[in-house]
Amino acid sequence: MTNISDISDITILGGVDKDCNPESIDEVHIRSGEIVGIVGPTGSGKSTLISDIEQLARRDTPSKRKILINGEEPDHGLRMDTKKKRIAQLSQNMRFLADMTVIDFLRMHAKSRGKNSDTPERTIETANRLTGEPISADSQLTILSGGQSRALMVADIAIISDSPVVLIDEIENAGIKKKAALNLLSGKGKIVLVVTHDPVLALTTERRIVTKNGGIAEIIETTEDERQICARLSKMDEYLMELREAIRCGRSLGCVKPCAGMDQPLRL
Ligand SMILES: Nc1ncnc2c1ncn2[C@@H]1O[C@H](COP(=O)(O)OP(=O)(O)OP(=O)(O)O)[C@@H](O)[C@H]1O
Ligand SMILES: [Mg+2]
Repeated sequence: MTNISDISDITILGGVDKDCNPESIDEVHIRSGEIVGIVGPTGSGKSTLISDIEQLARRDTPSKRKILINGEEPDHGLRMDTKKKRIAQLSQNMRFLADMTVIDFLRMHAKSRGKNSDTPERTIETANRLTGEPISADSQLTILSGGQSRALMVADIAIISDSPVVLIDEIENAGIKKKAALNLLSGKGKIVLVVTHDPVLALTTERRIVTKNGGIAEIIETTEDERQICARLSKMDEYLMELREAIRCGRSLGCVKPCAGMDQPLRL
């Protein structure tokens, strides 16, 4: 039986778009260590594509795609056993529903994964580096804000689940430090798919799948020029984040230093 921990590649075998026409790209291989973007207009099927991977679809979803692991069709046991499957998905609107404290949840999860006893505390510290409002160990999971919940999920996926396949849906809308979160989630040898409308995240990937009308329309390799644009955009983005943070914390914008290449702070 395929053991997903030894995963070296995922293959997406094309299905059909919303009009039941065959997808333009009929086979996509993603190797371990790759970060692949998924871009496309709203409603074009980005979330559906990562759900197909999470479910290890075998022509049994609306898109009729099939997912292979290491070139093979995963067997029924692997599809159904969430402990063996080890595909982590950070969805667009995920919230914690469990009625327990943050630390109790993390202890339970860490124990079930055989992790060291300091792992839950490390997970909270890591989550708190991604969000402006610190999470306290004794808080109930259900009272966490949207940003705190997502930060905790990112840290939990990175440190406790440590899954070889990570699927991320629009992390830029989570109200957390998106680039730091992506770095944390894309450890060595992992396969990472990131759905995004954000140019910095999209250009950080090596290639991006473009969805249209429910189907995979194109795959674009990131060019050297795009990488350079990404480096500059990233600096502007950091500047924007600092401005946002200053406004959030009730500070005046005069104290925020402009980013390189922008020699004047923004003024009215
Ligand atoms: N290949 C397909 N065949 C049939 N229905 C599809 C297909 N792909 C997507 N859909 C349907 O289209 C709708 C929109 O898809 P989806 O939510 O994946 O879009 P999205 O790109 O993630 O949009 P958003 O940017 O708003 O998050 C869903 O109801 C989904 O079930
Ligand atoms: Mg979506």
